[in-house]
Amino acid sequence: MSSDPLLSVRGLVSGYGSTRVLQGVDLDVPKGSVVTLIGRNGVGKTTTLRSILGSVTPSAGTISFGETDITALSPEKTAREGIALVPEERRVFPGLTVTENVEIGRIGGRKDIDKPTVDEIIDEFENLSRHRTSKGAALSGGEQQMLAIARALVSAPDLLMLDEPTEGLAPSIVKQVQRKIKELNDEGVTILLVEQNVQVALDAADYVYILDKGQVVHEGPADEVAASDEILDRYLGVSVAD
Ligand SMILES: Nc1ncnc2c1ncn2[C@@H]1O[C@H](COP(=O)(O)OP(=O)(O)OP(=O)(O)O)[C@@H](O)[C@H]1O
Ligand SMILES: [Mg+2]
Repeated sequence: MSSDPLLSVRGLVSGYGSTRVLQGVDLDVPKGSVVTLIGRNGVGKTTTLRSILGSVTPSAGTISFGETDITALSPEKTAREGIALVPEERRVFPGLTVTENVEIGRIGGRKDIDKPTVDEIIDEFENLSRHRTSKGAALSGGEQQMLAIARALVSAPDLLMLDEPTEGLAPSIVKQVQRKIKELNDEGVTILLVEQNVQVALDAADYVYILDKGQVVHEGPADEVAASDEILDRYLGVSVAD
């Protein structure tokens, strides 16, 4: 879609043991954009993100990040290249404080640039800076989501991948997460967003890929997808308010 993709995935085949989940996925994430990957439960969205990160090893296809072939790299190495994942279900460490949770994100990661300090990152999150010494378990769902994002940002990623960041959050908190994604993108972070909330995905994104049974079945600009009841109904079984 763009002459300048930061991330480029071609013919990606991936799965678990003998189970093939992705059947040849192609997608591009242009530098500076917000791209969303949506689709019904179990179609392979998380597996796509894990394959890019390197926690699942593709059996075929290529993944390029800038000029670098990252297809076979481990998560530690992709982090060093400038990719971070905010995982499904947040995975905040309940027994560690806010500060300690963010410190974990600073281990490893990039060596080529000065990473922000833990305090600098926490300062950017109003609802975390008030709770630096609170344990992860004491935070609300929205605060835990912000903490998971903060932990990813402390590695100063060029590409931030978010897996269902609004799941289970109240509508007002969903809006906060949406604002944060927009703010980060305005600051220059390229975003690959997996969402089950189609409205949030279409509002946030420039470009949309719809995944079904391990394949991209539709792609297009977010406003075009949002305007097509037929596409939304056929692939997602939803309708979206105007
Ligand atoms: N660790 C695993 N081992 C074996 N199979 C798995 C594993 N993780 C996922 N799967 C299977 O792979 C398929 C795709 O799962 P994936 O988590 O990528 O889907 P998803 O689109 O993210 O779904 P959801 O919307 O529920 O998060 C599913 O059939 C799932 O059961
Ligand atoms: Mg998933």
